[in-house]
Amino acid sequence: MKNDLLIRAAKGESIDRYPVWIMRQAGRILPEYRAVRSSVKDFKALVKNPELCCEVTLQPVDILGVDAAIIFSDILVVPEAMGLDYEMIEQKGPWFEKTIRTSDDLSLISGNIDVSDRLSYVLEAISLTKKTLDGRVPLIGFAGAPWTIFCYMVEGKGSKTFSESRKILYQNPILAHNLLSQITDVTIEYLKLQMKHGADLVQVFDSWAGILSRAQYQEFCLPYLTKICNAITEIPITIFAKGASASLSDLAKLNCNILGLDWNMDINSTRELVNETKTLQGNLDPCVLYGTQQNIELETKKMLSSFKSKRHIVNLGHGIYPDTDFEKVKTFINTVKNHEIN
Ligand code: CP3
Repeated sequence: MKNDLLIRAAKGESIDRYPVWIMRQAGRILPEYRAVRSSVKDFKALVKNPELCCEVTLQPVDILGVDAAIIFSDILVVPEAMGLDYEMIEQKGPWFEKTIRTSDDLSLISGNIDVSDRLSYVLEAISLTKKTLDGRVPLIGFAGAPWTIFCYMVEGKGSKTFSESRKILYQNPILAHNLLSQITDVTIEYLKLQMKHGADLVQVFDSWAGILSRAQYQEFCLPYLTKICNAITEIPITIFAKGASASLSDLAKLNCNILGLDWNMDINSTRELVNETKTLQGNLDPCVLYGTQQNIELETKKMLSSFKSKRHIVNLGHGIYPDTDFEKVKTFINTVKNHEIN
């Protein structure tokens, strides 16, 4: 591997500068992505085309100079593989025709599927991308956390409150555990297959972690994340639980190499929780990139010095916003790359 900074930082090995990549770096901000995207019928046609997935996965590596590629796909391929078909509606987001609200609805899905067959298009995209990358930078695989996938399966779309999902936790916790456990089994198999096909590191996105209390997170999320972390031992794994500040001391006990921090999470106290046993990833507010070049440099340097440890992978605190100016992104990346570790 020509640039293995990400893997070295993940394992706590020595590095001469911090690795940097950006959540949701593919697509969104790049005109080159939009050109590929408009050449196909819709988002799903792109996700199911390994050659085009490979092309858009490589775009941020070539154009932005990030230290990792993340496979172009979506967390929603898992609910689809389990039986819930979705559409990606322009300007609106995902929409599922069928949802899981009652125990009877469980008949709509199966956790006992041939993942290598149902998600063969992602695995092919990973193999092809790995080959095309030719060791330039590591390739990141990913999946949604069981709780976040549960939210989409129950709600059927995005939501401000995810109240249908939280309602089930009170009205029918047995159904909740049943569904979460089926998602977990599929996710473990899926992540292992991603690794087999060439992923060098995997990240689990718990985008809706922040809507649960600490007690609920302990009951409905941590046991499943624990199972996933304990199953993926051959390559580094990142857990990114957006908004889960209240659960950081629990997350610190997971058997993962990296914890992702959002921009509201406290760097110092999280470092104290994990000592030097884990790498932290993050956590610049994506809105910093709306500021002036000078301010972006300043805020990025401030963030870099707050981490006070070599076990740091630089990223934003959540996915980059679609209307972010490309030049500002470059400023962020170059500030990190020019920052010497002493
Ligand atoms: O660079 C990358 O990270 C590309 C791969 C990627 C996508 N989605 C492509 C995508 C990844 C890692 C994701 C993760 C994802 N998808 C998450 C977790 C991360 C997070 O943001 O919290 C979630 C919650 C989803 C579900 C999802 N996919 C939503 C809610 C939407 C619509 C709104 C949006 O974010 O644009 C998507 C669509 C989607 N996934 C797009 C892309 C590039 C935009 C659609 C398009 O190009 O038409």
